[in-house]
Amino acid sequence: MVDCYVKQILSLYDGFFARMFVYLRCILLPPDKVERFVPVRGRIVDVGCGYGHYAIYFALKQPKRIVRGYEFNKNRVRAANKAATRIDNVDFFCRDLRRDSSLKNCDCICLIDLMHHIPREAQDNLLLECSKKLAKEGVLIVKDVDNRPLWKYVYNYVHDKIFTLNDKLYFSSRKQMETKLEGLGFKITFKETIRTWFLNPIPHYILILKNRENNV
Ligand SMILES: C[S@@+](CC[C@H](N)C(=O)[O-])C[C@H]1O[C@@H](n2cnc3c(N)ncnc32)[C@H](O)[C@@H]1O
Repeated sequence: MVDCYVKQILSLYDGFFARMFVYLRCILLPPDKVERFVPVRGRIVDVGCGYGHYAIYFALKQPKRIVRGYEFNKNRVRAANKAATRIDNVDFFCRDLRRDSSLKNCDCICLIDLMHHIPREAQDNLLLECSKKLAKEGVLIVKDVDNRPLWKYVYNYVHDKIFTLNDKLYFSSRKQMETKLEGLGFKITFKETIRTWFLNPIPHYILILKNRENNV
């Protein structure tokens, strides 16, 4: 069920909790389901990268990718940098993308299960910042969770409430997310419901976007 890169990544993490978390994430959302949309070279950014396992996967799979992970949680950034010690093309920062003026011309920005954790106005600000930081043909990847079917939504809500110790959550439907992104000037170039294994309780979807002015 996990590919050879995931096995390699698991061996990079110290501690039962981090390793178990990364393992479960890779079962629930196999990294190749996102990786196949990431350009094979160039500057790749994973915002809200958590323990950094998806960013490390992207870097291991294509050495010509220069990958950066941004994450608010210091412990996760520490764990991610430790796991990536021997991998030259990936780094992690405890930094807010919106305040990082050094970052520009990104070939790809990934937001993997991030949007439903941030307030709606902050979502808009972050998306606008991503739009500014993308290179002309740069790709924005939004991987998030739908609010249907209902049982999956309820499972996911309870799961996230437990794992975030009762943080406020900001779920929206895939359609609402599409409308928001188009309203902010993105063009959807591809969208799909991610299928993994039967009865996977997470209603994954992925949207691949570009800045609209590059596509008219
Ligand atoms: C649900 S976790 C997803 C982690 C990882 N992307 C994954 O899919 O396993 C969301 C993460 O985003 C971080 N986060 C929330 N807002 C952020 C922001 N504006 N910039 C960077 N990290 C953020 C949180 O600390 C949390 O670790």
